[in-house]
Amino acid sequence: MEVKSMMNTATTLMIGLVFIMISVVAAEDPYRFFEWHVTYGNISPLGVEQQGILINGKFPGPDIYSVTNDNLIINVFNQLDEPFLISWSGIENLRNSFQDGVYGTTCPIPPGKNYTYALHVKDQIGSFYYFPSLGFHKAAGGFGGIRISTRPLIPVPFPPPADDYTVLIGDWYKTNHKDLRAKLDNGGKLPLPDGILINGRSSGATIITFEPGKTYRLRISNVGLQNSLNFRIQNHAMKLVEVEGRHTLQNVFSSLDVHLGQSYSVLVTADQPAKDYYIVVSSRFTPKVLTTTGVLHYSNYSGPVSGLIQAAPTLLSWSFNQARAIRTNLTANGPRPNPQGSFHYGMINITRTIRLANSAGQIEGKQRYAVNSASFYPADTPLKLADYFKIDGVYEPGSISDTPIKGGLFPATSVMQVDYRAFVEVVFENWEASVQSWHLDGYSFFVVGMELGKWSPASRKAYNLNDAVSRCTVQVYPKSWTAIYISLDNVGMWNLRSESWERQYLGQQLYMRVYTNSTSLRDEYLIPKNALLCGRATGRHTALL
Ligand SMILES: *[C@@H]1O[C@H](CO)[C@@H](O)[C@H](O)[C@H]1NC(C)=O
Ligand SMILES: *[C@@H]1O[C@H](CO)[C@@H](O)[C@H](O)[C@H]1NC(C)=O
Ligand SMILES: *[C@@H]1O[C@H](CO)[C@@H](O)[C@H](O)[C@H]1NC(C)=O
Ligand SMILES: *[C@@H]1O[C@H](CO)[C@@H](O)[C@H](O)[C@H]1NC(C)=O
Ligand SMILES: *[C@@H]1O[C@H](CO)[C@@H](O)[C@H](O)[C@H]1NC(C)=O
Repeated sequence: MEVKSMMNTATTLMIGLVFIMISVVAAEDPYRFFEWHVTYGNISPLGVEQQGILINGKFPGPDIYSVTNDNLIINVFNQLDEPFLISWSGIENLRNSFQDGVYGTTCPIPPGKNYTYALHVKDQIGSFYYFPSLGFHKAAGGFGGIRISTRPLIPVPFPPPADDYTVLIGDWYKTNHKDLRAKLDNGGKLPLPDGILINGRSSGATIITFEPGKTYRLRISNVGLQNSLNFRIQNHAMKLVEVEGRHTLQNVFSSLDVHLGQSYSVLVTADQPAKDYYIVVSSRFTPKVLTTTGVLHYSNYSGPVSGLIQAAPTLLSWSFNQARAIRTNLTANGPRPNPQGSFHYGMINITRTIRLANSAGQIEGKQRYAVNSASFYPADTPLKLADYFKIDGVYEPGSISDTPIKGGLFPATSVMQVDYRAFVEVVFENWEASVQSWHLDGYSFFVVGMELGKWSPASRKAYNLNDAVSRCTVQVYPKSWTAIYISLDNVGMWNLRSESWERQYLGQQLYMRVYTNSTSLRDEYLIPKNALLCGRATGRHTALL
């Protein structure tokens, strides 16, 4: 007993030493500090006053500006009447799923309390966003843009734009988030959204001002709840340059499908006669098309916006073609000075294939959604903390199958165990008639294939093993499949979820437990010193850290 506890102390000291060394290394990267106060406030984005969630008084919340490898220290004060968490879509939180801000990894911030996130945007560039992850708060706001710029001296594959705009688009309800949540809790489904917002505003607002002749970057993210959206600007072409941290082949599009949770950077040149132009956003793959417009203003024009509002494409083949045209520029730099094509993902052997099918159904008379028939219910304790403190019985690894199974939906706290450093193929199979959007936290993955119909091993012949785009959120078209490759290089508990907020809330999600038996801090960090503890982890001491 004595000897064992001494050994433990010695191990702890050694771990402590390594931790300090790692901290010193990380300390070379710059720090940026943020203090965020989350409150309710009155907003009326669709002309009707409603209660929104504001960050430092703003709706949408403030943008985070950062540079590759920055440490972002964000102290979030929850001044709402409900537990609250923010999650960071696309921020990989390398070795540190504790900071992910979803209920499977992080205890909610109680009302009146605060929690300081420490994010390290290690080896990342690009356009992302943050959002509130609990309790359907996303329906009330609390989201904002995140941009990670390339470090100075690393060439970017396009000239610096004259200005750079965050454009957050998303469908919206006039209904309070608590009422929407109650509808789902009571077994119902959500109605159609009431409208679409661009940067928190509806039709007619001026979103962007252009000076004639100059070129601008727009970072477009779909932060909505239910609908894929099409984005276009009257008479202006958009040159795609970046998708969720990847520099792309610079294809020109007249409109862009942005599925739930996705982010795109485009360059737009003010090369048209000085006038005001419509920015149009409309829902895709919906029986009833919702549309909103904003205004692109030319600085030397002072008249009304006019002209035709161009319709969105409607053919599924158009969408497939656009998706396949979104590819990596292999010679362009990413976050490092070496070209993005230097990682030859197409030459790595697959160690495991995981097939995931979404479905809808009922459990005990209530609407639910599932992955391989397992409908996710949260546990009483964050899964990551159960792992960390070795609390048994919170979840069962293997509670979800690797392949679609027949039969009805069943409740599960779905956790799929995968090995650290494995290279896996995941096939999303959508047998439903609605478009799906999937997001994986902690990672970006290669989108190797996307086709109409059922997937079979023969489908692999059509995979793009050369210049597929690497991203963190991907669509699966109705009655179609999408295949991705993931290099599992980030230990932790990572949420894989539907970005349809009704679907993820009602069970279409799971956690991937990327596991190693190594306890080295080179593989995974210790729990943060300031971690909030809850559920069965309440009172577990972190004093030795
Ligand atoms: C809450 O904020 C205070 C500073 O106002 C800070 O010292 C403390 O560490 C924060 N708490 C957590 C859990 O991060
Ligand atoms: C706006 O500026 C452009 C470029 O300088 C010029 O060609 C155009 O005539 C101007 N238009 C107006 C309405 O002032
Ligand atoms: C790819 O990036 C390089 C910069 O490294 C650029 O010169 C080239 O035009 C880009 N190619 C395409 C097709 O976008
Ligand atoms: C991949 O698998 C093939 C066949 O099993 C084998 O010949 C090859 O060496 C493997 N490649 C790598 C990089 O491991
Ligand atoms: C981890 O597992 C491997 C293979 O089972 C074993 O060889 C290794 O010693 C284990 N490492 C630790 C740190 O337990």
